[in-house]
Amino acid sequence: MSGRDEIGVGLIGLGTIGTGVAKVLQRNAAEIEARLGCPLRLVRIADLDTERDRGVSLDGIRFDSDAEGLIDDPGVDLVVELIGGYDVAQRLITRALSAGKSVVTANKALLALHGKALFDAAEKGGADIAFEASVGGGIPILRSLREGLNANRIESVRGIINGTTNYILTEMERGGEDFEVVLKRAQELGYAEADPSFDVDGIDAAHKITLLAAMAFGAELTFEEVPTEGIGQIEPIDIDAAAEFGFRIKLLAITKLHREGGEPRLEVRVHPTMVPASSLLAKVDGSMNAVAVAGDAVGPTLFYGAGAGELPTASAVVADLIELARERRRAQVGRVAPLSYLPHTMRPLPLLPLGELEGRAYLRFQVLDRPGVLAQIGALLGDQGISIESLIQKGRAEPGGSVPVLVLTHPASEAAIRRALDGIDQLPDVAAPTRFVRIEEDL
Ligand code: HSE
Repeated sequence: MSGRDEIGVGLIGLGTIGTGVAKVLQRNAAEIEARLGCPLRLVRIADLDTERDRGVSLDGIRFDSDAEGLIDDPGVDLVVELIGGYDVAQRLITRALSAGKSVVTANKALLALHGKALFDAAEKGGADIAFEASVGGGIPILRSLREGLNANRIESVRGIINGTTNYILTEMERGGEDFEVVLKRAQELGYAEADPSFDVDGIDAAHKITLLAAMAFGAELTFEEVPTEGIGQIEPIDIDAAAEFGFRIKLLAITKLHREGGEPRLEVRVHPTMVPASSLLAKVDGSMNAVAVAGDAVGPTLFYGAGAGELPTASAVVADLIELARERRRAQVGRVAPLSYLPHTMRPLPLLPLGELEGRAYLRFQVLDRPGVLAQIGALLGDQGISIESLIQKGRAEPGGSVPVLVLTHPASEAAIRRALDGIDQLPDVAAPTRFVRIEEDL
């Protein structure tokens, strides 16, 4: 980037994820610059199809089908490979690395087969290869293994790491739709691989667990060595039986390092698995992914998020770009932001008053058990525009005693609830201050 105070990105492959990368780089340009200290600009794109409208603005970006030209372009500092597949992708990545240009890729199939050759090429070229998006979509699981958990001896990594099969199994459980219909929808939503048998037969999960085993244990293996079974044999009768026995069926990818005895041995496998219905992994539905990592110091941890799709996967690609760009900045200008944001971009932000919160609420009134009490409470709530969704009265009081009345409200502002409670708690028939618990939805 000599002479330019920006870092130039070249993107090879403008499919679903590539389009997401262009969107995220544009949409979050100001945030990224505040973290990095200079713009991270998409300067060039290469794709065989230069005609199709992807619904993203490409103004000011050179767009043609010349991937080699993109790599050799002095305006391109970092290269993103999102074409997938083996031969062409490997050739392009190797060309970039050999030219000393770091590469971001989501190509788990290539890494899980030819990772060693690519990492050797990176070392020789003095460049990096980053691949967060290749496992778990938007979940920063590789970064967590490499950084947040690197004080540990990792004991196991177990996860749901294929969104398509998790989506299919979830839909099969809900009943009704045919396998083919659900698979087609997963393809339309951009979850499925170009060859969906990679998803259904567990191959995509085998690619990913290969990379996780490398990150967790330094295990050098190829995905072909991973015992792999897909979900093809699972029928609705199995899903129903699992539920009756207290389980759910998930396609799990598992790796553990057995250190007992002499030489450590690697356990690695992908297959449909019954997991206790009460477990956290059992609650991971649809295209969501989750990875459970156990370390000797940290104990069990769980990482959850969108495992596929345009923007979640783009989130991981762009995070890699920012990390690589930070490394370049460190080499060029020395200090980089210690807190993610550069100190001069940080500023105090006004706090949102709690009264402006809006949501449903749980209220516990303690009232004398007399006719008309609820009408008075209802009126004071109504005066503030608060309506009741459900109401329960527990038991009956001794004469002169009080009973709890439990209310769930429809969404209301906290200021309105506070005003209503100020009045309600003054009523002679209210025996104790009302308890108020906020409800957080969409968790
Ligand atoms: N086909 C993959 C999946 C996409 O369904 O999880 C994300 O790697």
